Parts: sequence; C-alpha cells; structure tokens
Amino acid sequence: MRPRSSEQSISANKNYFDSRGITQKHDEQHLHNEMAKRIGKALLNIYSFDDEHTTMLDFACGTGLNSRFLAPYVKSIIGVDISQEMVDRYNKRVENQGISQEEMRAICVPEELLDTSIDQESDNRLKKLLGDVEFDVAICCMSYHHFPSISSATRLLSSLLRPGGYLYVADVESISKADHTGQSITDLEPIFPDGACDAGVVMHQYGFSEVQIKDSFVNAGLAGLDAETGQISRFTYDVATRAFKNGKAVNIFIAGGMKPPL
Ligand SMILES: C[S@@+](CC[C@H](N)C(=O)[O-])C[C@H]1O[C@@H](n2cnc3c(N)ncnc32)[C@H](O)[C@@H]1O
Repeated sequence: MRPRSSEQSISANKNYFDSRGITQKHDEQHLHNEMAKRIGKALLNIYSFDDEHTTMLDFACGTGLNSRFLAPYVKSIIGVDISQEMVDRYNKRVENQGISQEEMRAICVPEELLDTSIDQESDNRLKKLLGDVEFDVAICCMSYHHFPSISSATRLLSSLLRPGGYLYVADVESISKADHTGQSITDLEPIFPDGACDAGVVMHQYGFSEVQIKDSFVNAGLAGLDAETGQISRFTYDVATRAFKNGKAVNIFIAGGMKPPL
C-alpha cells in the first residue's frame, strides 16, 4: 500500500534503510561505490573544495560513500540521515580509518524534523543538532527521489548554508517516452521499480526534470531571476554520468545553487 502522508513515507524510508541487509548492500555494492565516485569527481570539477576551510553537509548520507570520496578535499563533514543503521555504519567506517569526529561524523535525525511541514522551530532544532554550523557546501546524492517534498527538502538545506554557500543535488533525470520532448508526467517512463513506489520508499518514480529541480531551488532562494539578463542566475545543471536503472539508461544530473551572500 502506498503511504498517504509525508510522515508515512518518511517512516517507510526509515524502516527500509534501517534493515541491516540494505545497509550492507549499499555500502559494499560496486554499483553504489562507482556512482559515488563519479558524482564525487563531477563535484570536484564544479566546486572549489578547500581542505583547510570547506565545511560540508552530506544530507541523506547513507553509509558515507560520497563523504568518503570527498573527505580528502574538505576540512570537515557532517553527515545527516534518517536511518540509524546507515549512520552507525558511516561512523564505524570513520572510526576504523582513525579519523576524528570533529573532522567527520554522521547524525541520525528524528523523523519529525524532516517532515514536509517543517516549521521554523523544527529548523532551529535541526540546526542545534548540527552544532549551529552554517555550511559552505551541502550535497545530497541519489536521495531526492526518496523525499515526499523536494521543495521542503531544498528549503531546509538552504537554511543550513552560510550566505554565499552552495547546494548540490545529484539524482536521476526523467526520461520521456517520446524522445525527451514530452512535458506531461503521463509521457514519462517510470524509472524505479513499482515495488519500491508501492512500499513508499521511492516518492518520485519518474526522476526529475531540470525545470522541477530549478523551481525548488528558486523557491528556496538558491537561484533567482537576474534583473539585467532576465536569466535564472546562481543555478547550474550538468549531466554528471549515465547509469542503468530498472533496465533503462538514464542521466544522473548535478544541480547547483548558491545562497545569496549578505
Ligand atoms: C539511496 S541512499 C543514498 C545514500 C548516499 N547519499 C549515497 O549516494 O550513497 C538514500 C538515503 O536517503 C536516506 N533518506 C531517505 N529519506 C530521507 C529523509 N526524508 N531525510 C533524510 N534522509 C533520508 C536513506 O536513509 C538513505 O540512506
């Protein structure tokens, strides 16, 4: 049965990713490691990481595949996830590598702080949980399709950035049945298996179009209309790599936006 509310979908995701089999599979499968490596390489080309200064948030960090790839290029990383199993494995890996918690750690965030109806009070509680850090850069890789509302997620991530900080989101680009020209959702091919959608684990079965992602960045203040050029500024969109999902060849995009400096 598909979950009805965002609360139910967040719980479904937590239950799914809290299963030990899933955590181990995610961490060890070549496919996931390769994807993290390719996204990481693309991010290194887009953003100037600085190992002495950059503070990074890895949102929906999982077991830390993206964090581990980028760790040599940043000063510190905080991972955030809804699954305690994922977070435990992330932190175990950090401990095994002899890395200090100040440099890299993950935190499991209570479900209610990630609900779509997040208010200012929840935002503040989350900020406190993260030590009131304002991040230079936040990444969220291969996870947006799990979120009930990408607008709320983008707004939340924007609130955790310092002025002038950047958000990068990597996920699957939607594919049209009619050679990428169709705009209507009914013209799109489902990318994720039906079972994952019925179980409420995947909320965006069709992936995302550039327009959808851009809208969420604009609404979160991470992109805006440039009065002089009439163009959407502070927003970037690139294809980072290709992958096979559910038997279909898909693009993996990286969208980026900047929180306006003060
Ligand atoms: C496919 S994994 C991706 C993990 C990692 N970013 C990577 O690319 O290897 C999706 C992750 O999103 C987390 N997740 C799902 N819903 C979430 C939510 N509402 N808030 C935070 N994390 C969530 C899951 O627990 C899981 O670790």
